[in-house]
Amino acid sequence: MSGLKLTGLRKNYGAHQVIKGVDLVVEPKEFVVFVGPSGCGKSTLLRMIAGLEEISGGDLTIGGVRMNEVDASKRGIAMVFQSYALYPHMTVRENMGFALKYAGESAANIARRVNEAAKILELHKLMDRKPRDLSGGQRQRVAIGRAIVRHPEVFLFDEPLSNLDAELRVQMRIEIARLHKELQTTIIYVTHDQVEAMTLADKIVVLREGLIEQTGAPLTLYDDPDNQFVAGFIGSPRMNFLPAVVKNGALTLPEYDGQVIPMPPVAAKLAEGAEVTVGIRPEHFRTGGSASLDLTIELIEHLGGESFAYARQGKANVITIATGTGRNWASGERIQATFDPASVLLFTAQGARVR
Ligand SMILES: Nc1ncnc2c1ncn2[C@@H]1O[C@H](COP(=O)(O)OP(=O)(O)OP(=O)(O)O)[C@@H](O)[C@H]1O
Ligand SMILES: [Mg+2]
Repeated sequence: MSGLKLTGLRKNYGAHQVIKGVDLVVEPKEFVVFVGPSGCGKSTLLRMIAGLEEISGGDLTIGGVRMNEVDASKRGIAMVFQSYALYPHMTVRENMGFALKYAGESAANIARRVNEAAKILELHKLMDRKPRDLSGGQRQRVAIGRAIVRHPEVFLFDEPLSNLDAELRVQMRIEIARLHKELQTTIIYVTHDQVEAMTLADKIVVLREGLIEQTGAPLTLYDDPDNQFVAGFIGSPRMNFLPAVVKNGALTLPEYDGQVIPMPPVAAKLAEGAEVTVGIRPEHFRTGGSASLDLTIELIEHLGGESFAYARQGKANVITIATGTGRNWASGERIQATFDPASVLLFTAQGARVR
């Protein structure tokens, strides 16, 4: 299976720079997930790799071969889109075999490869149906089947599950994880879904405005983000950010009525008067600890197994608190939200991590 190497990859539409110099290595068999805000260039980058979009600058190699000018059909890649437009007048079998037929494969070869893909995707009972007689999840499996039959070196997925309802998404997510194990191919996958990114990826790439902010294993990005953007982007609900000032060996929170929390060990090197942003994840409040904030619960959401309290102090931003079961909490209540100061992350005014 092929790996990929992107070196200084750029894409302009006229004067508009969309991809501004991306360097990335994707190892053979690796499952890489692209995440980032809408419009940051995820789909563009995927389409450049697929050969559906011209490359304005830099180099793309697949399996060690430079691919910048190679035709999409000769890159050994199959792409699955969010809108997977199956041919409505063809059966599942015909839809899956179409690309092979178009490429001039023999009928016997097409039948063998289509059956093999149908087995992997458990589609064999549906082979003679038309797309309109399938559920959303079944249609999505056919779209993936169309890609599998081509035996690609690399799979590209652009938000393949975003049209499905919540339950189907979970099922298909597990299918895709299984598929990756079974086929042992290189996969690049774009998603907006935190859980998909965290659970499927060997490596997550966080993009922002056409540049990579950070690349790493899911838990590395969660535990040890390089900057405030990545810290805020990875993790759901989002990390809380509180403006703070270093004062007398502690952190004062001016927007939270000047409440004081102890200095995390990493802050020792900060100068008196330095302005920083304190990052506390909602789940850091779950385990408690020696630091605490005095807050009033504005709203509480009981989800059954977990509750989230949205609490504030004065006019400051609302803080999200994961409470565990938290059933004894109610809105309007004053609470001491406790956490371990060592779990806190600090960022400079420019958003860089203080390590
Ligand atoms: N053909 C085009 N001409 C000009 N600008 C384009 C073109 N295609 C895309 N763009 C711009 O490139 C940027 C990146 O778009 P892209 O579709 O890659 O974003 P994305 O990260 O996939 O977003 P989303 O999460 O919403 O799918 C956007 O600002 C978009 O408007
Ligand atoms: Mg997109």
